[in-house]
Amino acid sequence: MTTQGQQYFIRTYGCQMNEHDTERIASLLQADGMSEAASMDDADVVVLNTCCIRENADNKLYGQLGNLKQRKIDNPNLQIAVAGCLAQKDRDEIQARAGHVDVVFGTHNVHRAAELLELARTQGPITEILEATARDDALAFPSALPVRRESDHAAWVTIQIGCDNNCAFCIVPAVRGPEVSRPFDQLVGEVRDLAGEGISEVTLLGQNVNSYGRDLAINARRAGEDVRLRPMFAELLRTIGDINGIRRIRYTSPHPKDMGPDVAEAMAETAAVCEHLHMPLQSGSDRVLSLMHRGYNAERYLRVIEQARATIPDLAVTTDIIVGFPGETEADFEQTMRCVEEIGYASSFSFKYSIRPGTPGASMPRQVPEDVKSERLKRLQDLLYTQQMAFNKSLIGRTLDVLVENGGRDDGQLFGRSPYLQGTHFDGDESLVGQIVPVLITGAGRNSLTGELA
Ligand code: 5AD
Ligand code: SF4
Repeated sequence: MTTQGQQYFIRTYGCQMNEHDTERIASLLQADGMSEAASMDDADVVVLNTCCIRENADNKLYGQLGNLKQRKIDNPNLQIAVAGCLAQKDRDEIQARAGHVDVVFGTHNVHRAAELLELARTQGPITEILEATARDDALAFPSALPVRRESDHAAWVTIQIGCDNNCAFCIVPAVRGPEVSRPFDQLVGEVRDLAGEGISEVTLLGQNVNSYGRDLAINARRAGEDVRLRPMFAELLRTIGDINGIRRIRYTSPHPKDMGPDVAEAMAETAAVCEHLHMPLQSGSDRVLSLMHRGYNAERYLRVIEQARATIPDLAVTTDIIVGFPGETEADFEQTMRCVEEIGYASSFSFKYSIRPGTPGASMPRQVPEDVKSERLKRLQDLLYTQQMAFNKSLIGRTLDVLVENGGRDDGQLFGRSPYLQGTHFDGDESLVGQIVPVLITGAGRNSLTGELA
């Protein structure tokens, strides 16, 4: 059976890493002759690209698979694939629980998506999970695949996969494996190609971008080369910032323990890097930070932010925070609140701790009751949302560079993103789509801005 003319639909859960993997899967299926379906109901191939960072992912997945079961009975040619972190983690369990799934593949063999679907057509159900991205398999790295991008102007670039930290709450090291950085020249070449295709904004992705290149240097040394072990992320920012056509650089996420002053200096001195630092705090209590194995205390975190603010004018700081990690007392939580008050975040993601089986946090004593977590999250979010609103309001009267992404809801309206990522609505001609234009901010809500062309 040929795939020509077939339609695929991919549902993505979770982070930007997954969204980027989805783009890669889409490009492979298109290369195989398929086109994107308007909805899951129209698709001949359904791919669920899963996430397992927080709870409920499993319930959502099996719920979704349950819904697809009848469709598979009605149409035996329908192919169902489960990809991503939950597939990596639960592997054989998925087909055992949902026998109508044709293909299960993990985070290290995204490049095999089309082949596995093809094989399953003749051979029946397949589960293929690799433990790590094979360094010597050039195809396994994101750059090896042409990417079908969600935007004509902005692209994601994976600089590093996996993570060598062992934060006690986090499942990522178990599913994405050890840290593997992509070679410097390969990355720079990829961004150059993107710029050549008209991309003006890149977002560099990694679990711990400050340690980018550490494994490259270690490997080069093992191979007998005389290289210095040194942080390479700042150099990467500067080099990409020099590429013609790249007007904006974003990145996520850095780690407070590894963030050196060189990165803030590179941000300040590289015009293309947005004045935005997303620095996960997780907790403001030294005791909890230590239980979490985060490798820094609140004072170190505050110093990192202070140094960045002193170096980068108009810097906006955003964060991730977890409440209710095992052992967190009311006094610990209040320290988180004080830290947040002291810093003043432009926006944030905040979560109730959720047990990830197999992580150290899961077997720690003094798990925090659900109602206590909910109550703390509410108090924290009240504070964070007030700060977010205040930050957005503080932009009124300023002129911000906005990358125009598309036309707005009505004719003559445009929608774009500020350097700080807020969606920004203003009037203007469609011909401005793809350009970076100055917009005078005249109004602010919690999640978006309005303005007029300056
Ligand atoms: N429970 C709650 N939040 C979590 N995160 C990661 N693991 C967990 C967990 N088990 C949050 C962290 C991280 C973000 C991506 O997700 O804040 O920075
Ligand atoms: Fe998870 Fe910590 Fe690695 Fe981030 S740095 S991916 S939170 S283990």
